[in-house]
Amino acid sequence: MTKFLILGIETSCDDTSVSVIENGNIIRSNIISSQIDLHQKFGGVVPELAARCHLEAVLPIYRLALTEAGVSIHDIQLIAATYGPGLIGSLLVGLSFAKGLALAGEIPFIGVNHIEGHIYANILGHPEIEPPLLCLTVSGGHTDLLYMRKWGSYQVLGRTKDDAAGEAFDKISRVLGLGYPGGPYIDRIAVGAKDDLEFVQAKGFTNSFDFSFSGLKTAVMNYIQHQKQLGLELDVPRIAASFQRAVVTQLTVKLFQAVKDYEAGTILLSGGVAANTLLRRRCQTEAERLGITLYYPELSLCTDNAAMIAAAGYFHFINEGPRNLEITAASDLKL
Ligand code: KG4
Ligand code: ZN
Repeated sequence: MTKFLILGIETSCDDTSVSVIENGNIIRSNIISSQIDLHQKFGGVVPELAARCHLEAVLPIYRLALTEAGVSIHDIQLIAATYGPGLIGSLLVGLSFAKGLALAGEIPFIGVNHIEGHIYANILGHPEIEPPLLCLTVSGGHTDLLYMRKWGSYQVLGRTKDDAAGEAFDKISRVLGLGYPGGPYIDRIAVGAKDDLEFVQAKGFTNSFDFSFSGLKTAVMNYIQHQKQLGLELDVPRIAASFQRAVVTQLTVKLFQAVKDYEAGTILLSGGVAANTLLRRRCQTEAERLGITLYYPELSLCTDNAAMIAAAGYFHFINEGPRNLEITAASDLKL
């Protein structure tokens, strides 16, 4: 089989990433430069700083990605870059860089939806995945439950009505005095902790596949406030574990209700929150019980990276050909 090399570029939020992949699913390089240290002290991403940081990082990261893959730009047959959703200034850096490379090298170009990229992270290492399937996409900006009849077709069964799951993890981590981004901190501190606190949640979405996390977030914050007013010490691991259990329960109840309703035989998890240990474990146990197949990306491919963008770009290129270079960054792009 001839090798088709794709260069992926991702700069939608606070990670600058460039990757080279082969034939849509073999990673040759996947360099990720994180800005976490920069944004940590602000407790969240500062858009102007993020864009400036991408600008400084993109060229060296691109060179490193080519070197590690052992190729030159002349070997690349397709350039795929995220064009949305995300922070507009950040998106523009990667997209403009990608377009410049495509124009100068006369290389076909394709713009990729970042959320779709997260879904395609699953086929890196698992080319055998075949729709129809259900996909739970849970990131810092999105919580979507999707039915995919075929690759590239997305029926939204439900999505969050307020905060994204990752956003709730980040907020609760901040009020508990843990780090940013919050998910990994809560995940770690919850290990072995009691998770018996019941936080009252919104009841409005029980009969739909839509999600809601803002009521839960408020309940946790009220609990913390109340404990402080009483002069009681906070049991941070217990609060974190109880909050995490509530999020994971909401996600898994809806996901497995959809499995039943749609008679799904395959499910995918995608997005940063798919790295969550409890979510992965619960889904694994339930999938085994039901005899269905569960896929989730390896940890480094759950959070933002360019290999997933290259994989999604390859799929669209093979099916629809290249796009023209007039595509612009779209910060609120939908699936
Ligand atoms: O997909 P991603 O890297 O960026 C977006 O597209 O938003 O997701 C980032 C989100 C953050 O909110 C982060 O707290 C969350 O994913 N996250 C986790 C874990 N690792 C990352 N949430 C729960 N458990 C984790 N282990
Ligand atoms: Zn993402």
